[in-house]
Amino acid sequence: MTQDELKKATALAALEFILPQIDKNTIIGIGTGSTANYFIDALAEHQDEFKACVASSTASTERLEKHGIEVLPLNTVSDIPFYIDGADEINPYFEMIKGGGAALTQEKIVAAVAKSFICIADESKWVDILGNFPLPVEVIPMARSYVARELLKMGANPVYRDSVVTDNGNQILDLHDFQITGARDVEQTINQITGVVCNGIFANRKADHLFLATKDGVKKIEQR
Ligand code: A5P
Repeated sequence: MTQDELKKATALAALEFILPQIDKNTIIGIGTGSTANYFIDALAEHQDEFKACVASSTASTERLEKHGIEVLPLNTVSDIPFYIDGADEINPYFEMIKGGGAALTQEKIVAAVAKSFICIADESKWVDILGNFPLPVEVIPMARSYVARELLKMGANPVYRDSVVTDNGNQILDLHDFQITGARDVEQTINQITGVVCNGIFANRKADHLFLATKDGVKKIEQR
């Protein structure tokens, strides 16, 4: 199976998982990225079985609306039973690195509101220790160099993601050479740097369920 086939398989497994649990009043939280796109496309076949979605990016909003699915502003919604999204890395505690597509801040906000975070990932994302994937940090543009100097002091190697502007009008630093142990603390420490909007460690709000697509099929993994 190709990686794209694995991504599609995990998206379909998550859809099968939520379908019996939703009804015509349900609002579904939608992530961002290629795996989330497979979920959106499959969800479109079931438009009559839920009310609407809340999306974590302009890209996902546009894809949902193209399918004719209503997308509500998060500020009008208080109850999101499920948030479905991919990850760049996920460990056995279901802590993740996200933000490869620069949508980390809105992803973290929608995930915070959701009761349950369902991670859909192919097996290339499964790691023991987070940090091989460069950790994205969203920064206010004028603070970028200051934040980079502070991150250097933490032992990371911050690299400016050239020409990328987030949906919030900000910039991204990617932290290379930065193995993450004690993810909850590291997430909070980076957030304390003035000028940081959000970082891509999802440990204080981690996933609740994981559908991991492997060459032997999609496995629903139990959290350690
Ligand atoms: C978007 O900013 C990211 O958090 C994505 O959720 C993550 O990069 C996974 O993307 P893919 O599903 O494209 O691998």
